[in-house]
Amino acid sequence: MAREIIRNPQALPLSSYSVRETSFGELPSGYRGLITLPGYISRDLSPDSIDVSSPLTKYRPGKNEPAIRLNIPVLSAAMQSVSGQKMGIALARMGGLAAIYCSQPIEEEADMVKAVKRHKGAFIEPEVVSAQDSIEYVAERMRRTGYSKFFVTQGRDQHGILLGLVTDNDFDAEMHKGQTVAQRMRPVRELDVVYHDEVSHDVKQSNEKAKSSHHSALPVIYRDGRLRDVIFRKDIRDHREHKTELIDDMKRLRVIAAVNTHDYKDRIPAVVDAGVDLILIDTSQGWTDHLADTSHFALNKYPGIPVIGGNVVTADGFNFLVKDCGVDSVKAGMGIASICITPEQIGVARSQDRAIEEVTKARDKHLEETGEYVPIIADGGVRSVRDMVVALALGADSIMAGRFFAGTNESPTEINYKFSPPRKPYWGEGSDRAKSWREKRGYSIEFEEGVPDAWVDYVGPLEPYLTQAMEQLKAGIRKAGCRTIDGLHRNAVVETISEEEVGAHSVHIEKKE
Ligand code: IMP
Repeated sequence: MAREIIRNPQALPLSSYSVRETSFGELPSGYRGLITLPGYISRDLSPDSIDVSSPLTKYRPGKNEPAIRLNIPVLSAAMQSVSGQKMGIALARMGGLAAIYCSQPIEEEADMVKAVKRHKGAFIEPEVVSAQDSIEYVAERMRRTGYSKFFVTQGRDQHGILLGLVTDNDFDAEMHKGQTVAQRMRPVRELDVVYHDEVSHDVKQSNEKAKSSHHSALPVIYRDGRLRDVIFRKDIRDHREHKTELIDDMKRLRVIAAVNTHDYKDRIPAVVDAGVDLILIDTSQGWTDHLADTSHFALNKYPGIPVIGGNVVTADGFNFLVKDCGVDSVKAGMGIASICITPEQIGVARSQDRAIEEVTKARDKHLEETGEYVPIIADGGVRSVRDMVVALALGADSIMAGRFFAGTNESPTEINYKFSPPRKPYWGEGSDRAKSWREKRGYSIEFEEGVPDAWVDYVGPLEPYLTQAMEQLKAGIRKAGCRTIDGLHRNAVVETISEEEVGAHSVHIEKKE
């Protein structure tokens, strides 16, 4: 006898569903063998009325709003082969969030966070150089950072006296490499500047100034000539083109930084200084005192910055994270990721459908008892949009994925054309490959819990790839007869299906060249 999982909206409110014995041949395992049933589509349930936004941090329904709400319910995993600054920028521009990986030196992670926060905003802390720097040095920094405009300040001080601006149009990297910035820059008297007391930190005023200027970058300076920050005109246009982008009050993209439970006392302050929006305590088994220590440290020192805890796969794990550690959201999943070898290695894991079932039930019980809703992120094992729909229908608020994002241009790896079609490399954080950065720091490596050398298909730029996936997700939610993710939690029915029935079958499919 196998289990059929079926959610019964009439009998049980919210995301409870019953498990009953059936005669299906196969046990559901993770998302395999599960499918969402169609629901009634009323006339007003139009495709463009589907809303895939979802809370990411805890809140009290009817009383307040979550501090952070995703505009699309997807997060990229905190992994070396997935989430660097490029993914952070691209995903936040679409309404999701990347978790910058912590398996790297603290300063490098903080630099990635900074790069996302600096990418755009009402007021940006600019890159600065000094007038004495060589053009060779500026060209190299432009190449490394991807920025084309550097403000020139006294002593290369971020808030020093503003002397001018040097852009990639002001020099030829070869011809002028021996010259200094002073010889090539446009001096401050030729720049359009804004005084800090004309705009204060008002986003509307900054937009007005940028729109009325002929220049694409407007330095904001104090009356004594010191640089405060910069207004970029492109950022206004950018917002028009990315209406679902996830931004903070100062119009900067939001980003998550992963931290571990070892060096957290140094890492958390560094990523907070860099401007991070959320901290993810990234452990494969989060029901630990170490997680509590890390969470208490973060929440006591930085009470305004939400903390995601995980991973857990049981109600006890959920209750520990929420009640004892005080986290703002909970990540669920263990042993089911595409590159995960934990179950074979140590025999401890859980099927993802059961993890989501139990953890989301605990969430709903916690809501009933306290009035507080703690969002659940279903982490790992997502092979396609089908699995996303099932995860959300089972009760998850959002999903985190690694493999799904690893093949995009925005993951920090190189495309390998020796394969046809081309591929990108993907490896687990529990592999020696990912853990090797620690050796230098004296941690011991015992055995691997992740695949070190996997490949995924190259899928091109993130934007069209994820746009298509989100359209499929919306279509799935609508065909399940729902308008929102909360609607899915309340009404969707998930049940088992034979994998043989999923996908095209019994036909010869013509392969396109
Ligand atoms: P995927 O989307 O199925 O590829 O799973 C991504 C998730 O796998 C991450 O968010 C982590 O929770 C988990 N993960 C990352 N590295 C490892 C590993 O080495 N072993 C086991 N799980 C891992």
